[in-house]
Amino acid sequence: MLGKHKDLLGIRELTADEILYILKNAQTMKYILEQNNKRTPHLQGKSIVTLFYENSTRTRLSFELASKYMGASSANVSAGSSSVSKGENLIDTAKTIDAMGADVIIIRHAMSGAPHFVAKNVKATVINAGDGMNEHPTQALLDAFTIQQYKGGFEGLKVAIVGDILHSRVVRSNIYLLTKLGAKVAVGGPATLLPKGMDKLGADVFDNVQEALIDADVVMGLRMQRERQKSGLVPSEREYARFFGIDERRLGFAKPDALIMHPGPVNRGFELTSGVVDSDRSVINEQVTNGVAVRMAILYIFARRGGAGENTN
Ligand code: CP
Repeated sequence: MLGKHKDLLGIRELTADEILYILKNAQTMKYILEQNNKRTPHLQGKSIVTLFYENSTRTRLSFELASKYMGASSANVSAGSSSVSKGENLIDTAKTIDAMGADVIIIRHAMSGAPHFVAKNVKATVINAGDGMNEHPTQALLDAFTIQQYKGGFEGLKVAIVGDILHSRVVRSNIYLLTKLGAKVAVGGPATLLPKGMDKLGADVFDNVQEALIDADVVMGLRMQRERQKSGLVPSEREYARFFGIDERRLGFAKPDALIMHPGPVNRGFELTSGVVDSDRSVINEQVTNGVAVRMAILYIFARRGGAGENTN
C-alpha cells in the first residue's frame, strides 16, 4: 500500500514498499494494455490536466493516453499557447486549473521545486513530470519497471548511468529508486558534467565512462541536454562522442547480457551510436511502452488521493 501522499513529487519521499506497490499495479495496467480493448473505467469522472512549461513527447503523451484509457477527462495546458504567454504566473495558472475542479495536475517546469510549490497551493493532486535538474519520478518508475521485467529484481544488480549527469533529473530519481531497492549505481561522464555530492546520494562516481560500465547489468545513457549547457563544459560534439559516448567497443566493458536503456529523446551518434540504440539488447522502445502502463498505475493510485484505493490485482 501507499502511505498518505497527496502528491507524487519525487522518489526521495517514497519507501521501497511504496515503489514496489506502484510497480505491482503497473503489471496489471500492462496486462490491460495488451488486450484489444484497452479501456477501463478506473478513472471515470476524474479530470486530469497536463501543465507543461517544457517540451515533451513521451511523458505528456503517455499521461494523456493513460488518462483516456482509464476513462478520465483530460486536457493540456502548454506554456506557449495559454495565458502563461501573457505573463500569468505559475501559481495563478495552477489555481485557475484547480478552480475548474481538476483532480490531478501533472506539471513539468524548468525550475527545480516548481511542482512542490504548486502542490502547497492547490487542492488537486500534483504529479511531477520533471522539475529542472531535481527529479523525474515517473521516468525512474518506468525504468525500474523495465529492469524488473528483464532482470526479475534489483538486489545485487549494477546499473551504470552515463552521460550528462550534471543536468539530469532522471539520474537523481534513478539513484534514489535503485539504491532503495538494493541495486548498485555507478555514474560516469566528463568531470565537468559530474556535480559534487553524487556519492552522498549513494552512487559510485567515475569521470571515465569505461570504468563506470565495468560488469554493469544495465547501461543507461543520458541525453546531452544542449538547452541547459553553459559554454566550456564539454568539448566539441565529435570529441564528446569519441571519449564519452557509448559505442559497441565501450559496451564490451559491461556484462554480455547488459540491457541498454535511455530515457529519450536520444541524440543518435552523440551519447549512443545508432548500432547501440538498435541492438538486440536495447530496451529503449520497451521503456516507452512501459511508460504508459506505469503512468496508468500512478494515476489510478494518486487520483484516488493518498493511495486509499485498493490494489488492482
Ligand atoms: N524521457 C522524457 O521525459 O521524454 P520527454 O521529454 O519526451 O517527455
